[in-house]
Amino acid sequence: MDQRRMSRKEFLRTGAKLAVGLTAGVGAMTLLPRRAAGAPYSVPSLPWPYVELDVEEARKRGYAGYYSGKGCSYGAFHVIISMLQEEVGEPYASMPTEFLEWGRGGGWGWGTLCGALTGALTAINVCKERGVARKLGDELLGWYTQTAFPTDISNLYAVEGRFPDTRIRDEQVQTVCGSPLCHVSVSEWVAAANVGASSPERSERCGRLTGDVAAYTVQIMNDELKETFAPLYAAPASVAYCMDCHGRDALDDTLGKMECTQCHGDHTGRLTARDWGATPTHQVRQHDPGPFARRTTIRFATPSAGVVWLAIYDIHGRLVKNLVNLEHYLQGLHDVVWDGTNNRGERVASGTYFYRLQAGTHDETQRINLF
Ligand code: HEC
Ligand code: HEC
Repeated sequence: MDQRRMSRKEFLRTGAKLAVGLTAGVGAMTLLPRRAAGAPYSVPSLPWPYVELDVEEARKRGYAGYYSGKGCSYGAFHVIISMLQEEVGEPYASMPTEFLEWGRGGGWGWGTLCGALTGALTAINVCKERGVARKLGDELLGWYTQTAFPTDISNLYAVEGRFPDTRIRDEQVQTVCGSPLCHVSVSEWVAAANVGASSPERSERCGRLTGDVAAYTVQIMNDELKETFAPLYAAPASVAYCMDCHGRDALDDTLGKMECTQCHGDHTGRLTARDWGATPTHQVRQHDPGPFARRTTIRFATPSAGVVWLAIYDIHGRLVKNLVNLEHYLQGLHDVVWDGTNNRGERVASGTYFYRLQAGTHDETQRINLF
């Protein structure tokens, strides 16, 4: 044990010596730019100055950047930095942009965050201070989920051959994908356009999209500069609805602002009812917490006979009690009483709980209070 600690210390010491040797050596002389002897080499801290840029120029250069061979993420980042290199000069002039290439295809083709977003969000963080970057970033991500790509302007540029070196001059199908994920964005578009994901048409679509993302990023950064920025994006009510239970004030078991129902559906069975005014097939009518008796009645209706499962969970999502464990119920109204005990028969603390009812295809979760 002692010996291991010693050798680790030794290692750190030798390592430090090696590093000192390297910076003082020939390698350092050739790698670092020349500067006055002893002058510290410093890069100005972020954010760097931003000036108003041309939105349509950004769209065209974003398209060209995509086709540079380095892809969407580099494309979106490079447009904005290269325009600032021309308008502002240093420190932008010394900044490389190729390091953003990894974001292509949602991270080397993994299909996670759309690469154009990765590039654009990084550019925002270079030019804007943290609070502003976050506000603009939220807008950009949200706008992306609700925008039909390629936009009308991009389609028009392509048809009229106004992009630099326009590759395909067709008007392309537009899709709104509801997600910031490359995977969803590409797959939905490919399905709507009825082409392959590795086809030139799909590349062209992502080229136009890269231009669109760069243009919108420049537009909101300009607006912010002129103090006219107002977000367009409003989160879908369903996200707030799901996070009301799953967010940090209750179950606290997930993070995110993406549209939950796109992947999970709605196990509470209530969003659909709200959106379309439909009545769920099985409905919990009421729960009736008696203020004096320490018991809660859960009343539910089953429109047809079937197997029912009804369980109580605590605020951390842990199963507390199986009230109805896969039992067969006839059609009708049923009252089930929870006496405030867990599966071991112990009394549980007062507070907020959830019950979950599954009957046939109906799956519903609601909050209840135990007094
Ligand atoms: C009234 C509170 C409540 C609401 C609203 C709610 N949930 Fe849940 N959810 C629960 C409880 C309680 C569980 C069961 C405990 C657990 O697994 O964490 C659960 C479980 C889950 C699970 C775990 C897998 C499963 O099915 O057991 C997922 C996924 C989930 N909810 C997604 C959602 C989504 C998406 C929404 C919005 C449409 C949503 N929840 C709305 C309370 C809620
Ligand atoms: C892009 C798809 C996607 C979106 C959007 C998404 N989830 Fe998930 N979520 C998953 C996957 C995949 C898992 C892991 C597999 C599983 O357990 O379902 C998961 C797991 C979960 C779990 C744990 C499930 C368990 O088994 O205990 C909860 C709770 C959950 N998500 C809630 C949400 C909520 C709330 C939202 C909206 C803010 C959301 N999810 C948005 C894909 C998604």
